[in-house]
Amino acid sequence: MKFFVDTADLAEIEDLAATGLLDGVTTNPSLIAKSGGDFFDVIRNICDIVPGPVSAEVTATDAETMLSEGRTLAAIAPNVAVKVPLTWDGLKACRALSQGGTKVNVTLCFSPSQALLAAKAGAAFISPFVGRLDDISQDGMGLIREIVTIYRAYPDTIGTEVLVASIRHPLHVVEAAKLGADVATVPPAVLRKLASHPLTDKGLDAFLADWQKTGQSILS
Ligand code: E4P
Repeated sequence: MKFFVDTADLAEIEDLAATGLLDGVTTNPSLIAKSGGDFFDVIRNICDIVPGPVSAEVTATDAETMLSEGRTLAAIAPNVAVKVPLTWDGLKACRALSQGGTKVNVTLCFSPSQALLAAKAGAAFISPFVGRLDDISQDGMGLIREIVTIYRAYPDTIGTEVLVASIRHPLHVVEAAKLGADVATVPPAVLRKLASHPLTDKGLDAFLADWQKTGQSILS
């Protein structure tokens, strides 16, 4: 499974990228606003830090303007993936951008039928939002299961990767991996939680305390 980080915070991205475990980044207009930076500068800087796909979202709602915005965003760096919303206009823009060789991430997906259309439109990624479905008492992970099942039924014609979005906690990541989702885009705090376990901390403390008693050191 690939790990993307869902943020436009450059310091967080730099810190996480240094682990070598980051495969890409997703942003959206709300995350750009939260960063307080200039959209183009932020995306350019992220693309310099992370070689993998960096999603930058269009803000127009009609296909023609989305297409122009998408082309402008794609020109920022070769690793930009243009994000478009799952509307009919978004699908039209997705088709045109994909045919022109641009990677497109179709976002705000909340149903399997929407995911099917995004694949048909040539999306490189489909972003189903699990947390926002859970928030309204619907089964977010159930949607991932349905999309993975559908896409797997057409291995020769569907190349779209399932990018699990709106992740709220580590269990979302684990469940998505069990279902065979291709990518999880994870908020920085949740990404860090993936590595932590109280028994790891307790065990390490005990090992180090015993080691100190030996008076030895590995490096002389
Ligand atoms: C995905 O690309 C979105 O930016 C993101 O996962 C949305 O998450 P939220 O529901 O926590 O805003």
